[in-house]
Amino acid sequence: MTLNLKIWRQQGQNAEGKLVDYRVDHVSPDMSFLEMIDVLNEQLVRKGEDPIAFDHDCREGICGMCSMMIDGKAHGGFKNTTTCQVHMRLYKNGDTIVIEPFRAQAFPIIKDLTVDRSSIDKVMIKGGYISANTGNAQDANAILIPKPVADEAMDAAACIGCGACVASCPNGSGMLFMGAKISQLALLPQGQPEAPQRALKMVQEHDMLGFGNCTTHAECEATCPKGISIEHIARMNREYLKAAFSYHEKNRSEGGA
Ligand code: SF4
Ligand code: FES
Repeated sequence: MTLNLKIWRQQGQNAEGKLVDYRVDHVSPDMSFLEMIDVLNEQLVRKGEDPIAFDHDCREGICGMCSMMIDGKAHGGFKNTTTCQVHMRLYKNGDTIVIEPFRAQAFPIIKDLTVDRSSIDKVMIKGGYISANTGNAQDANAILIPKPVADEAMDAAACIGCGACVASCPNGSGMLFMGAKISQLALLPQGQPEAPQRALKMVQEHDMLGFGNCTTHAECEATCPKGISIEHIARMNREYLKAAFSYHEKNRSEGGA
């Protein structure tokens, strides 16, 4: 089939950007969305033109790199689907598709469809992990965790840090991915010792990096390719409040909880 693409081209963060029209012929319905852009890039390179810059890595829905807006929706808005998992059979011959980068204050544009999402890593570095040296793997069931709790922690851990929640939120909030990380560890006994520092430091970093606040639009949940629930934002808020009341300055300076 033949597709008409309108793709955002921008040389750099401070350059002016615009939508540019492209036509791609011989698109197979079996191609993935990224393979379709590969075909266009081959055409551009053959003509001596600058190929479209876009992020990708695993192409299997695991790494979260394939960040782009397709027809105004992060990852195209298909349920539980990353851009690399979108197949061209979802489109018809002659369709026009608008492709733009993720837009959020915390994600400055690098070039074309590529944005700098390192702000997600910076929030994670502030506490999205446990620092205890746990040694060798323990025997199964050495720490008893009820199955529904383990399932909920696992659901939260499914976040791949793609940033679609941020791009689709009218406030540019990163509270869904941050909530997923805080909630995942708050649910498990291993996450308890550092829970107060984690909630306080991650939220502080999130706000400092230019992410907005959550006003419960729930666009993030609707667009998340991993089906992360905004219930994790509610748990994050409870964790933050608990920490704000119980974790005192004296303890902070001494490194205790
Ligand atoms: S919560 Fe969902 S949309 Fe947000 S970064 Fe994680 S996987 Fe992506
Ligand atoms: S390229 Fe890894 S999730 Fe799409």
